This record gives sequence, C-alpha cells and structure tokens, in this order.
Amino acid sequence: MAEKSSRGLADVVAATTSISDIDGESGRLFYRGYDIHDIAGRISFEECVHLLQRGDLPTQQGLDDLEDELTAARQIGATTEALLPHVVRAATPMEALRTLVSSLSVDDPDAGDSSVEADRRKATRLVAQMPILVARYEAARTGRAPVESDPDLGIAGNFLWQITGRYPSDRAQDLFDTCLVLHADHTMNASTFTARVIAATLSDMHSAITGAMGALRGPLHGGANEAVMNTLTSIEGDVDAVDGFVREELSAGRKLMGFGHRVYKTEDPRATHLRKMSEELGELSGNSRYYEFSRRMEQTVFDTKGLYPNVDFYAASVYHALGIPTDLFTPVFAISRMSGWTAHVIEQHEDNRLIRPGSEYTGPTGRRWADIAER
Ligand code: ACO
Repeated sequence: MAEKSSRGLADVVAATTSISDIDGESGRLFYRGYDIHDIAGRISFEECVHLLQRGDLPTQQGLDDLEDELTAARQIGATTEALLPHVVRAATPMEALRTLVSSLSVDDPDAGDSSVEADRRKATRLVAQMPILVARYEAARTGRAPVESDPDLGIAGNFLWQITGRYPSDRAQDLFDTCLVLHADHTMNASTFTARVIAATLSDMHSAITGAMGALRGPLHGGANEAVMNTLTSIEGDVDAVDGFVREELSAGRKLMGFGHRVYKTEDPRATHLRKMSEELGELSGNSRYYEFSRRMEQTVFDTKGLYPNVDFYAASVYHALGIPTDLFTPVFAISRMSGWTAHVIEQHEDNRLIRPGSEYTGPTGRRWADIAER
C-alpha cells in the first residue's frame, strides 16, 4: 500500500538535475550555478542555450560556433511545411504549434536515434526551429508572405523582425533577448516534468517536447501570460478601475492570472527584471498604460491577498510593447523554454530510470462481482 500522496506533488523531489535550481524562500533562481540576477541582461539567449544544453557559458569561439549552428538550422522540413496550411485552422496557436513541433521529427536527420550525441544535435535544431515555426505559422494564418530570416540577427532580433515585419531597435532586441533568458529553465515545472516523464520511457526528444508543449499551454502554466494581457485590455477606464476589478475577481473566488507560485514564497526573481523592462518599454513607446495598470494590480493583489506576481505577469505588458500578438505569448514562452526542455531530455537520457510514481487509492474496496443481470 502506498504512502499518503502529496496533492499536486507539492514539495516532492521528483528528480535530480544540475541544470537549474530555485530557492523559493529567498526568491532566487540559478542556471547551472549562476544567479539569474547576475546573468540576466548580460548574456544572450544563445549563450544561455550553451549554458543549459552544454553545461557552461561558452568561450567566444564556442559562441560563434553555436550561433553558426543555430543560424544554419533555421529551417523546417518538407513535412512540416506541407502541414502548415492545414493547422492554421486550429483553435489556438499552441494547438497548431504542438502539432507542427511533433511533425519536425519526420524530417529530422537524426530521427530514430536517441543517443546523447543525436539528442544534442536535435536540441540545437529545435531551439533554432521553434521561432521560425511560430513566425511561419503567424504568416500563414494572417495570409502574409513569410518574412525571410536575417542571418545577421540573433534569435531574439530575428523573431521580432519576422513577426512584426519591422527591423527591431537594438534596445528592443536586447530586451527581448533578456526575456528569452529569463524564461529558459525553471526546474521541475509542469512542462519540464512532462518532458522528463516521456523521455524516461526512452521515448525520443520530439515526443518529449510535444508533451511539454501540451503542458505549457494550460492557463495555470505558460498560458497565464496571454490571460494577463486579456485581463489588462479588458479593464476600462483609468488606473483606479484596477482596484474594483481585482476586488470583484477575488470576491467571486476567481484566480488572477500571473499571480502566485508553487515554489516562490516571495517575489519571483524573473518578475523583478520584467517589471523594469515593462516600465522602460512603456516610457520608450510613450504609452505606459499597461505598465501602470500592472503596477496597480500588483499592489492591490498584494494588499488584499498577499500574492506576488510571477514570471507571466509583467511578461504580458513587455511582449505587448514589443509588438507581439497576444495569442503568441505562450508560443514565445515555448521558444525560450525549448532550451531548458531539451537540456532536461538530454540529462534524463544520460542517466535514465523510468519515472513511475505510486498513487494513493481512494476508491471502494472489497466489492464482489455480480452477473450483469443482477447489478
Ligand atoms: N489568484 C487568486 N488566488 C490565488 C492565486 C491567484 N493567482 N494563486 C493562488 N491563490 C490562492 C488559492 O486560491 C488558494 O487559496 P485557498 O487556500 O484560500 O484556497 C491558495 O492561494 C493556494 O493556491 P493553489 O492554487 O493551491 O497553489 P498552487 O501552488 O497549487 O498553485 C499556481 C500555484 C497554479 C501558479 C497558482 O498560484 C495559480 O493558479 N496562479 C494563477 C495562474 C498563473 O499565473 N500561472 C503561471 C504560474 S508561473 C508559470 O507556470 C510559468
């Protein structure tokens, strides 16, 4: 008979990992031993990919080589290309992209090979392909010609270029680059755990990532950033209207998206950076409405419920100011988290054991079979 279960596996240590670590009490996040406050705004997303997938920050040569690999891999195979027009009718971008990501395995040169070397190559390709996929999907659903990838731009800059069709300013590129770094990994969150469970059956990288996409989509996980933006745009009037909105939602027993966290008992360190970025982008664009609404909401929610904003809260106003359509916010999260997911699949495959927890049975006992005519 199994022990008492922990609802939602709270406080259960489900795996060992050397990729990231969280101190929920003091609100600290580490990527391979580096404090996020030390590296956010200082390393590029490409350096972060190197750190997560390969274990260390790269040398200049290592970074140049990885950038070349990532730029060369900015393409999707014929199968995914053919599928694109069929999935644009999917209800949400995350549904379409989950299907497209899965299809990438068909044309992957390492399909059928789950060796660590093949996993590493697939991991690099997936990081390069994900933003291209989102941009191609956006072009297909809006009926626009796809914007050609610019090899002189890094992942962050090229994505903004392909999505908006406008050449992003250096500052916009830097800020978005930092967003990608901030969302890259976060220990045993729901989507990463999903990826590891799938990988632990010795299933392949693409299957694990497809499962992770499904988990990320939910509003209690990555889907919250989109919900936050919809909340911000739904509030009519000036900033004082925020207080009434918050009170109404809480008294109706509804959760406010972008607040609360399973692990952090204090401010999410990623929110610290995103708040500043939201403020700066508001000033740069001359429109601080959503930053000011967010600030007021943060204050009111803290005063009434003692909850802190999580990573999704200020990401919403930041992505909005960068010109990203609201329903692509969760796909943007996936662009970044692809680096963490793939690193975890590699780590799982390197030292694998099937993940198969027990359960606590709560159903009836001692029942006896009766013939169907007598039930
Ligand atoms: N708004 C209002 N109340 C909340 C919120 C919220 N956002 N978050 C937690 N609470 C309350 C709950 O109602 C509950 O109160 P009760 O004890 O009176 O019933 C208490 O705080 C504990 O909440 P749980 O949902 O049990 O906490 P859990 O650790 O399971 O959930 C979670 C964490 C899912 C993130 C939760 O805070 C939430 O639903 N937040 C909103 C969705 C969201 O922003 N998700 C993104 C998380 S970050 C990420 O995944 C990238």
